[in-house]
Parts: sequence; C-alpha cells; structure tokens
Amino acid sequence: MHQIPDESVDITFADPPFNLKKLYNNYNDKKSANEYLIWCKKWLSEMVRITKPSGSIFVHNIPKWLIYFASYLNEIAIFRHWIAWDAMGTPLGKTLLPNHYGILYYVKSKLDYKFYDIRMLHKRCRKCHYILKDYGGKKDQLHKCGPIISDVWTDIHRIRHKTRRDEHPCQLPVHLLERLLLMSSGKGDIVFDPFMGTGTTAIAAKKLGRRYIGIDIDPNYVEITNKKLKEVNATSINGCYVSVFLNKITTIQSNDWEKIKEGFDIPKTPLDLEKSEIKLINNENAKIKNMKIEKNHYYQRSNNQTLYNQKVNMLSHPKNK
Ligand SMILES: C[S@@+](CC[C@H](N)C(=O)[O-])C[C@H]1O[C@@H](n2cnc3c(N)ncnc32)[C@H](O)[C@@H]1O
Repeated sequence: MHQIPDESVDITFADPPFNLKKLYNNYNDKKSANEYLIWCKKWLSEMVRITKPSGSIFVHNIPKWLIYFASYLNEIAIFRHWIAWDAMGTPLGKTLLPNHYGILYYVKSKLDYKFYDIRMLHKRCRKCHYILKDYGGKKDQLHKCGPIISDVWTDIHRIRHKTRRDEHPCQLPVHLLERLLLMSSGKGDIVFDPFMGTGTTAIAAKKLGRRYIGIDIDPNYVEITNKKLKEVNATSINGCYVSVFLNKITTIQSNDWEKIKEGFDIPKTPLDLEKSEIKLINNENAKIKNMKIEKNHYYQRSNNQTLYNQKVNMLSHPKNK
C-alpha cells in the first residue's frame, strides 16, 4: 500500500482477518487484541491516505473491532454510516446471538463525495409473494422496482454452500460488494482492496465496469482470483450497470431505472405489483430494441461451472456469445 500514491483511488474496501483464530494458509489469525489493533491502524490510515477527496472508505468486520476502528477513523475521515449486514451467527455461549456484521462507511470530504441512491426489489412473502411492508393507502405510489436501500441489509446472505465458494474460510458474496460500489462509485472508477481473498471485490468491480487493484498475502488466493477474473463479464441493461444474483436484481442505481425498466415485465396496476414481482425479460421474448444484458457470470468453483452459468445467464448479449 505504501507504493500507492496519495488520493489516487476512488473506493477502498477492507475485509481483514477478524482475529477469530480462522485457519488461513499464510496468516496467523490469533494476535493479542493490542497487537491486532496496532496492525489495523496501519492499514486503516493507508486506506484514508490513498482515497481521493471524492472517494469512500469501507471496512467490514465484527462490532467488537469496528468500535475501535470507528474511533480511530473519526479522527482522519468523516463518518457516513454503520451498515448492519444481517448474516446468521452461531451461538457463542453467554452472549446475544451475534446476528450482524458491520460495514463502516467513511468519506473524505463533507460535501463532494460520490453517492448514488440505490434501490432493491420489494421484500415479499416467500410463499404468497405479496409485498411484506404495509404501505397503507399509498400503494399506488410504490416504486416499480423497489425501495431506496436503508443501512440495514437483510436480503444478502453469506455464502454457505460449498459449491458456491472457493477454498477460502470467509469469502464474501459478490453482490454485497456490488451494492457498495453502485452506491459510491461510477463507471471507470478505481476500487482498491488490501485483503482481496479470492477476489470478490475485483469481480464485483469488473462486473460493474469499474477498475480494481487488490492485494492478498496468499499467492494461492491471488491465483484463484486471476483465474476467476478471466471469466467475468460486465452485467448491464441498456448500458447501465446492475447487480443481479440468481436471475434477480439485487441493486440498481435509482437514476438508472428509467433506462433499464424496459428490460422488465412490470405488473400493470399497483394491485398486480403488490402481488407479483417485476421480472427480467428473456431474450427470446424481448420486444425491445437495444436490450443489452451482458453475460452475468457469477463465479462458481467446481466443474459445474457451465451448468451454473447457464442457470444464471438468463440473457446474453449476442456480442458476448
Ligand atoms: C477475511 S479474508 C478476505 C476475504 C475476501 N473479502 C473474499 O471475499 O474473498 C482476509 C484475507 O486477508 C489476507 N491477509 C492476511 N494478512 C494480510 C496481509 N498482511 N496483507 C494482505 N493480505 C492479507 C488473507 O490471506 C485473507 O485472504
């Protein structure tokens, strides 16, 4: 990180080891609290140094460490949010069930930082598919896509299934990173991750037309990342980058809705929308000109890759075939 010039990247995102005695190949995850925090301060200050004045700094960790990080970051950057990422925990004994991770969100300037309103799909009942929130008499004013995203994220799940992950103890889901990037950056911006693991941040950046720089101490993870990156293509509708997971939009930039809405089958009346979700139109029955959904490559480790891609590549732009 010392080699990276001051104020040269748009976004820095760090997901460091949590000092929880996890089994990494090249790293001892069992430091004393003091030793861990001294080490963290070093890279936190480097993150702030290399971020542009218009940029954002994100740090993912458990609340136990984030409270220290926040008190340090408050001195050198400007607090925006503590994003609570709801991800099921395991009981530790004599504690509340730890059910959220935190993502600290800091910026460097009071006014001139990049920020984009982002939307997700409406939350629905898994069985009857009705919108869960009661909008009372205002249902006719519902946004066709879904609400502006809050600072509590419950719709993105940790990768638990072995077939969807690499040989890494704590790989993050790509669409978590895509949400952060859509919120804080634009096309071509540079994203930096000092603890890249098996490449989640770089993959999200590439899928959204951003540039990326990543570091990991483990050469094996770097190799996996480079291999995966070769297979990743951008995901966009009518030229707008979107985050898609398992055929469904997970995040869009709100300003893009007017341009991308023709890529969806949208229920006609507020009552229909309450009952059923907007759906991406398949290539075969797309009636729209200029419809462009580039290959949505969501990486999967095993040799089921082709099968899985077929499942998620609901629409492939002819140029990508
Ligand atoms: C929590 S994991 C990051 C996982 C990543 N976000 C992903 O989704 O794959 C932390 C990573 O930090 C790496 N690491 C530990 N110490 C490091 C150091 N001093 N410099 C660079 N990487 C380091 C580990 O090898 C590990 O891959």
